[in-house]
Amino acid sequence: MHRLGLRSRCLQLAMRSSIVVRTNVIATALPNLELVNEEPHQGNGNVVYSKSKDCDKEKKMDTPEQATCKVEMKASKPRPTERSMKTFEIYRWKPGDKPKLQKYEIDMNECGPMILDALIKIKNEMDPTLTFRRSCREGVCGSCAMNINGLNTLSCIQAIDRKPGRVCRIYPLPHLYVKRDLVPDLSRFYQQYQSIEPWLQRKDVNREVGKAQYLQAIEDRDRLDGLYECILCACCQTACPSYWWNSDKYLGPAILLQAYRWIIDSRDEATDHRLCMLTDPFKVYRCHTILNCTNTCPKNLNPAQAIIKLKQLLAGMTKKPAPKMQADQLFHSQT
Ligand code: SF4
Ligand code: SF4
Ligand code: FES
Repeated sequence: MHRLGLRSRCLQLAMRSSIVVRTNVIATALPNLELVNEEPHQGNGNVVYSKSKDCDKEKKMDTPEQATCKVEMKASKPRPTERSMKTFEIYRWKPGDKPKLQKYEIDMNECGPMILDALIKIKNEMDPTLTFRRSCREGVCGSCAMNINGLNTLSCIQAIDRKPGRVCRIYPLPHLYVKRDLVPDLSRFYQQYQSIEPWLQRKDVNREVGKAQYLQAIEDRDRLDGLYECILCACCQTACPSYWWNSDKYLGPAILLQAYRWIIDSRDEATDHRLCMLTDPFKVYRCHTILNCTNTCPKNLNPAQAIIKLKQLLAGMTKKPAPKMQADQLFHSQT
């Protein structure tokens, strides 16, 4: 007790003259002192300490690691009063108006980290007329796709660039008709999707339905990796120059990736029918392997590669591998 009291007294004297000390050293030696300067420390780990009000009370001591961690967390907290404004310029249009870019200023201390957070904040607190699509806010539904600073991506998984002075410009997906603000008209996109018949097709479905599961060998299932994850957000579709100029005839990367996904599925028995539907000078062959689609995909998929494999199948250079597990045998054993 006496030794500790003497050391505390010496340190009190030192503290009165605002001595600057190393955080990790002081945190170990002085558990009863508190941080008074909450500015983030500047690289060398130096901060100024003063004596705590409840210095004399008995306190449970932290381990050196816990104490250092607490001091670092406190020191790196931003000052709540400091504003950090960011400018967003957002495409606005509604039928009957002229299109324009509208500016909004947001305090980043009061906004979530993603672009969708900023859009929701603008809509809730500043301008309820701002229109955009969103649903899952975690990169799964594909509805919040838009063009952010020149890149087609999902606003819910695109972080806001917090560097000062950078304006964030947001437009709807390019080369589509706009319904309003950031909402593009995806009718043609969905019609094209429907045209490839995106469902499992079997030769004798009436006999099989409800009798057993359509199982797959692991090797067959692996062929769907990199394809089934597509969320049909249309980011790749609207980044493709060939689709910009021939969107009425060329199916585009998202739809072709989906077409390949159903063709290569070991359980699907309509391969010839599907390939026949794609035999056309425009539907597939307008792809010139520019790779904009692969570069922009927010799910890191590779539609350009799927199109190459599709072309190889169409040209007869490769064949769909025979299934390792014959699904129809599962049904024969049930009857
Ligand atoms: S690789 Fe094909 S689908 Fe992809 S952007 Fe280029 S032309 Fe379009
Ligand atoms: S391939 Fe990627 S960018 Fe294209 S629709 Fe699917 S998820 Fe979206
Ligand atoms: S809100 Fe669903 S992908 Fe962004």
